[in-house]
Amino acid sequence: MIKRCLFPAAGYGTRFLPATKAMPKEMLPILTKPLIQYGVEEAYEAGCTIMATITGRGKRAITDHFDISYELEHQIQGSDKEELLVGIRALIKNCTFTYTPQNEMKGLGDAIHKGKALVGDTAPFAVILADDLCVNPDGEGVMTQMVKLYEKYKCSIVAIMEVPHDQVHKYGVISGREIEKDIFLIDDMVEKPDNDKTPSNLVIIGRYILTPDIFKIIEDTKPGKNGEIQITDALLTQSKKGMVLGYKFQGKRFDCGSLDGFVEATNYFYNNLKELKK
Ligand code: G1P
Repeated sequence: MIKRCLFPAAGYGTRFLPATKAMPKEMLPILTKPLIQYGVEEAYEAGCTIMATITGRGKRAITDHFDISYELEHQIQGSDKEELLVGIRALIKNCTFTYTPQNEMKGLGDAIHKGKALVGDTAPFAVILADDLCVNPDGEGVMTQMVKLYEKYKCSIVAIMEVPHDQVHKYGVISGREIEKDIFLIDDMVEKPDNDKTPSNLVIIGRYILTPDIFKIIEDTKPGKNGEIQITDALLTQSKKGMVLGYKFQGKRFDCGSLDGFVEATNYFYNNLKELKK
């Protein structure tokens, strides 16, 4: 039912300079795979086949990554290196990749709004922030879990997790009533509150399912935290008009937008992907 996934990828990635001076942060690899490919694989597992990326200047490597590289593929044809491209080739074959630039850095809400031309405004769609890398070694991917929940509730859903209280200022924070195990009916949302003014310690991570009425709501949303159009503010409006759920997902999330999270993810994948150590 949810066929389209939006990947906001216009940010500069300044925390990873100089690595991100000429290379998009979404292309930083965890082992041999760029972050955005993990996100695309998660969306594909969830049933999405249209991968729509909001890009910015200097992001061409993302477009090239999801395209055939004839010269390289010709070079390695018939060698055991071909095996390394099996995953990306399958994505290229089975998905359609579309792109549009954000032009100006006006916040995540604005970036998502730019995606309207790519995902349309008639069907719900997924959003994945590639620097939040999610895995669920014991079962379905996080987006697959969310799509299943969408099928039941048919409303916007944000993935949430608990963090220590002194960390909430880095995130959008929700509060709500637990209506089923791990499912919260949201009654408040605040983008990056001060640690002592937070409604809870349940924070939003980079996985959303949004119903298309969000576009009109974003258009009516005033700049919020840091003078940017915040998706958190638009979702609060949507929750007041109807309902928005917070879903405490099964699995692990690595904050690959920070050096600590990036190293943690690298170690995790290195220790868990035995075949890479052959
Ligand atoms: C964005 C959202 C924030 C969310 C976070 C998850 O913030 O605005 O609500 O908690 O992603 O990673 P950013 O990390 O882009 O500043």
